[in-house]
Formats: sequence, C-alpha cells, structure tokens
Amino acid sequence: MHTIKSSREINKIKDACQVVAEILQVLIEETTEGITTNDLDRRAYELTVKKGATSAFKGYHGYPKSLCASVNEEVVHGIPDNRVLKEGDIVGLDFGVVLDGWYGDSAVTLAIGKVNSEAKKLMKVTEECLYKGIEAAYPGNRLGDLGFAVQEHAEKHGYGVVRDFVGHGVGRALHEEPQVPNYGKKGTGLKLESGMVIAIEPMVTVGSYKVKILKNNWTAVTVDGSLAAHFEHTVAVTERGPLILSDRARL
Ligand code: MF3
Ligand code: CO
Repeated sequence: MHTIKSSREINKIKDACQVVAEILQVLIEETTEGITTNDLDRRAYELTVKKGATSAFKGYHGYPKSLCASVNEEVVHGIPDNRVLKEGDIVGLDFGVVLDGWYGDSAVTLAIGKVNSEAKKLMKVTEECLYKGIEAAYPGNRLGDLGFAVQEHAEKHGYGVVRDFVGHGVGRALHEEPQVPNYGKKGTGLKLESGMVIAIEPMVTVGSYKVKILKNNWTAVTVDGSLAAHFEHTVAVTERGPLILSDRARL
C-alpha cells in the first residue's frame, strides 16, 4: 500500500529533493560539448558528499553509478562511461539522493550545443508532458487521469509514450507504491490523496514507444533507434494542489 506523508515528512522529502535540484542545476550548467558522462557522474558524487547526502542510485539493485546519463536513443538508465558528449546530442540526466533517510528523485534532458529541430521539439513536448502530469496530481483525481494527461499531450504531437517504465511513490525508499504510468484512461486507477508523494517521469519517443535493454542489463534504448527524452519531478499531492518538491525555479 502507498503511504500518506505528514507535512513534516513531506518537508524531509523536500529537503532531499532540494539537494537533488541544486546538484542537477550544477550539472545542467556544466554539461557541455566535450565532457564525458563519467565526468558528470563524478561531479554528481562529489556534490552529494559535500551536501551530506548519499546517492539514491549507486548500489540500487547493483546499479554502479550515482547518475543515469542517457544519450539520444537511450531512454533511461544510461550508465556513465567515457563517452564524450558532442554537439547535436541530447542527454537525459537522472539523479537521486538520500538525505536523513528520505529520498528525492528528478531528471532533465539537455541539448549539447545546437541540436536539430526534432530534438528540440521532443524535449519541449516531454517537459510539457511532465507539467501536464503534475497539474493532474491533485486530491480526488485518479492515476488514470494523470496518465491520460501525459499521454494525450505526447500523442497529440505524434510521439510515443514508453510503457515499460513508470513513475513511482517516493519516501523512505526510492521506489514506493503506487506505480505512476505515463498513459491511462480517465476516471480509472488509484485515487490520489493529500499526503501522497510521487515521482512523475514521462519518457517520450519520436518513433515507436517500444524499448529494449542493452547487454549491460540497465540501459533502455528505443527499439527503432529513435530519439527519446525524459523529465522527472518528485511531487507532493496536497489540498492546495501539487507541490513540486524538486523544483529548481527558486534555487
Ligand atoms: N529516476 C529513476 C527511477 O526512478 C532512477 C533509477 S536508476 C537506478 O527509476 F539506478 F537507481 F535504478
Ligand atoms: Co524516478
């Protein structure tokens, strides 16, 4: 069963999420042509230690790094390595920490230098999908309403919504119930309640939504090789509406 968090607990999750937000902001500023995904992972790790937090990902089911860096047709769970980011690439940076026992999780997709108009539009629409999902995260609404809002926006632009990975509850663990699909039917699924904390994370593709896992057992790529983008926020459902705990807007 999903848990309902008190406002004190939501504040603890927010503290973790703000560490994530601050570190992602640094990574966003430092991600340029010529940097390797390993450089970004090292930077993320160094900043995590500096903030007195620990990585939410490193060691999670054996995941080897602090950051996920997914390039172009990689959808999620790209493992940082010596790959050099080059102009025209898009890279999804997914990052999470544990602070005082509470988790935070957030992701963005960035352009390296000048990217083509398809890549630009995909990133824009995927981020809009995230905000459509967030806007639907209010008490009394259902998970199917949230998924529908995300899916409708992606498909309106001719894009695919990945089915094999979903958002999730966040709290004392990185992945709690409920699962939060980026697709769905209005009026179906679990009713959202004040005090739920969920990570909403649409993964959107230019082509087919089908993905496969690479031989490293982690990295999900589009089966047709089309570009993919991923944005994620940890969000609290409250009487006053959705609260974006991992917001970078007021840093
Ligand atoms: N944000 C991703 C998720 O919620 C990060 C998981 S990466 C892992 O699934 F390495 F920790 F699995
Ligand atoms: Co997540």
